Amino acid sequence: MQLKYKSYWRKSGLKGKWGNIFLKKLDQHNPKNVLEVGVFCGVTARNICDFLYEKNLNNFKYTGVDLFEKFNNDTKDEVKPTFLKDQKFSNPLKNIYYNYILKENLNSIKSVNKLLKKYRDNIKLIAGDTNIVLKELELENIDFAFLDGGHSYQTVINDLTILYDSMKDKKKVILCDDYGKESYIPDVEKAINDFTKKNNLKLNLIENRFAEIIT
Ligand SMILES: C[S@@+](CC[C@H](N)C(=O)[O-])C[C@H]1O[C@@H](n2cnc3c(N)ncnc32)[C@H](O)[C@@H]1O
Repeated sequence: MQLKYKSYWRKSGLKGKWGNIFLKKLDQHNPKNVLEVGVFCGVTARNICDFLYEKNLNNFKYTGVDLFEKFNNDTKDEVKPTFLKDQKFSNPLKNIYYNYILKENLNSIKSVNKLLKKYRDNIKLIAGDTNIVLKELELENIDFAFLDGGHSYQTVINDLTILYDSMKDKKKVILCDDYGKESYIPDVEKAINDFTKKNNLKLNLIENRFAEIIT
C-alpha cells in the first residue's frame, strides 16, 4: 500500500514530510478506531480515513474533536492558529476560491464534514473544548489517538489524563505532536514529561517531533 499524505488543497498541521511520517506510524500500529484531538481543516482526518478505508474497507471509525468555529475568547489559554484569524493563503487562487467563491470557513465543522463525506458512516466530528467534551466521549475502543489540539499545559494534561484513563493497560497508542525540537512547544513538552513520569510510562521520541506513548 502506498502511503502518501495528500493536502486536499487545504492547510494542514502536517506539512511536507511530516504527513508521510505520520501515515507510517499509523501503518506500523494498524488501528481500526482512531481519535484525532485537534482537527483544524480536516486534512489529517481525511488522510486517516483514506488510510483506514484502504486497510479495512468500511470496518473502521474516525472521531475528531475540535473547537471548530467556536474558537473564541472563552479559551484564553489557547493560541489561535494565525490562519484562522483571516483565512489568508499565500496562493492567491486558493484565496479567491475559498474566500470569494465558496465563502467557506475551512475550520468549520460543516466544511470538514464536507471533506469527509465519502466516509460519513464511519466518522464522528465533535465541536467543543476538550476540557469539557472529551470526558463525555466513549473512548474505550480507541486504538490510536493523535493528540494535536490545545497546546496549553493544562489542556494537554487534561487530554492525556482522560485518554489514558480509557486506554491504559491495553497497549494502545497516544501520539502527541509538538514535543520534540522539530516542532517544539514548551508547555506541551512539560505536560507530556510530567504526565509520563507520574504514570511511569515510557515515551518514544519520533523523528524529533512526536512523542509516542504506548499505554
Ligand atoms: C495544530 S491544529 C490541528 C492540526 C491537525 N491535527 C492537522 O494535522 O491538520 C490545532 C487545532 O486544535 C484546536 N483546539 C485548540 N484548543 C482546543 C481545545 N481546547 N479543544 C479542542 N480543540 C482545540 C484548534 O481549533 C485547531 O484547529
